[in-house]
Amino acid sequence: MKNIMVTGGAGFIGSAFVRRMVQKYPDFRIVVFDKMTYAGNLDNLLPVKDSSNFAFVQGDIADREVVRGALEQYGIDTVVNFAAETHVDRSILSPDAFIFSNVVGVHILLESALKHKIERFVHVSTDEVYGDVEEGFSVETDPFAPNSPYAASKAGGDLMVRAYHITHGMNTVVTRGSNTYGPYHYPEKLIPFFVTEALDDRPLPVYGDGKQVRDWLHVEDHAGGVETVLMKGVAGEAYNVAGENLQYNIDVTHRILKLLGKPESLIKHVPDREGHDRRYAMNCDKLRALGWQRDYNFDSGLEATVGWYKANEWWWRKIKTGEYLEYYKQQYAARLAAVQG
Ligand code: TYD
Repeated sequence: MKNIMVTGGAGFIGSAFVRRMVQKYPDFRIVVFDKMTYAGNLDNLLPVKDSSNFAFVQGDIADREVVRGALEQYGIDTVVNFAAETHVDRSILSPDAFIFSNVVGVHILLESALKHKIERFVHVSTDEVYGDVEEGFSVETDPFAPNSPYAASKAGGDLMVRAYHITHGMNTVVTRGSNTYGPYHYPEKLIPFFVTEALDDRPLPVYGDGKQVRDWLHVEDHAGGVETVLMKGVAGEAYNVAGENLQYNIDVTHRILKLLGKPESLIKHVPDREGHDRRYAMNCDKLRALGWQRDYNFDSGLEATVGWYKANEWWWRKIKTGEYLEYYKQQYAARLAAVQG
């Protein structure tokens, strides 16, 4: 294994994986393939962009010709697919892009990998395919019950990967990660959104009662989980990558305010997200059995992440302009107006 194409490698989790792999494996060439949508950001790759074992190709996984060109040009033997539309709220407002990237894109990437005789195909999926987990912990063999257009599109891609293993004997593995946080996280997701809004003394729109539960995993631990599955996962299998750190949204919000020394009056309970899953929770014994372990705990991980956003305004201020503000207006203007009177 020498030439690894990391699709979606300029996004949040993909870039953490790329930074890790470029530095840890100088004998591997890491080729980032990224469409550079609103969430792709070359700043995320600054720490590795001049490394001799790093290359970048701009392209869409749903574009056969560009995918084929990259696979051939770099003699790719391994694909790790992080490319996806990922934000649940955007999937409610405009679902087309989710089907296009997360289902059709995965299909075209699989077809291209099959033709090119790729030796190993790693697909990054999500705990959201299991749907709302009222109690207990999802295991990899649980049925899928996705509830948002985002989750349904990820379930579709996940199942296509399974089909290529069963039908064509392709060497595939799937990871299903829990809610991830850390540096370089696009500020539309709960933690970076609330940290950057609170820094500017702006309201924090908590959906509903804030008693929804998410399992928070540090991005470095998530990247380490994908690395472990790439190296040691059994073909045809899926592996949950969990933080084993269940938190109510409202508690995460309180922690952020406390770390920033900002007042609780910034919290605004706004009308809930449609179809909002109350709880995600996964068991990750299967991945642990491969030797994976986490290096971060939530207390220090969140504190360091908040510190990173404080110290790196250059990274996020330029994001919070243009299209971002349009999205903010669509998603939050009416919700905030409804509670501010
Ligand atoms: P998010 O970061 O969008 O991840 P996901 O929907 O994939 O879990 O949201 C995490 C939780 O935070 C989720 O329960 C929705 C909630 N949330 C809010 O209450 N307000 C917000 O403005 C956002 C973005 C999320």
